[in-house]
Amino acid sequence: MDKPNRDNIILIGFMGVGKTTVGKLLSQRIGYEFIDTDDLIVSTAGIPITDIFSRYGESYFRILEKRAIAHALKRPGIVLATGGGAVTDPDNFFFLKERGCVIALDAEEDILWDRLKAATDRPMLFSGKPRERMKALLKARRPIYHKAHFIVSVDDKTPEEVADEIISIIRSDECISGKEKRCGK
Ligand code: S3P
Repeated sequence: MDKPNRDNIILIGFMGVGKTTVGKLLSQRIGYEFIDTDDLIVSTAGIPITDIFSRYGESYFRILEKRAIAHALKRPGIVLATGGGAVTDPDNFFFLKERGCVIALDAEEDILWDRLKAATDRPMLFSGKPRERMKALLKARRPIYHKAHFIVSVDDKTPEEVADEIISIIRSDECISGKEKRCGK
């Protein structure tokens, strides 16, 4: 398999796993710009994500999400935090893996539930039985996340420790620069 290029660092994973927190820290540490696809969608649409879902439905949100991903990665030097459902679209996943190093953050189900149980801004969990809904989504999505270039477990780690781990991955010879990639390495 070709080595991923480190020109962009892309974080994927389930809601509540810490993509935004870790992504911001990471971007400061490596001097890349931080972009969160959800923030981009909200600023473009001018309404919160919960309203996009309730007024126009999930499929419209996914269209905006695809556009936001393409827009965010127009140039190199980005740390991108994606929404938890972004890579369920195989075209998005393919594009992300072309544009940078895709790192999946992973956490135990109980840890995720602890972080998500009080959330009011996660429409994918709006249900009479949010815990069951979370479990089912996680079961369906985890195998997809695990197709990332690298998987980093966040259990029992601080965001700083997770960022450190990512930095050692991207600075290792497991990754190359986009320039090297274009030379066929
Ligand atoms: C979603 C996750 C959210 C957001 C939207 C849909 C999902 O992002 O994109 O509510 O399908 O898992 P976070 O993963 O940042 O919560």
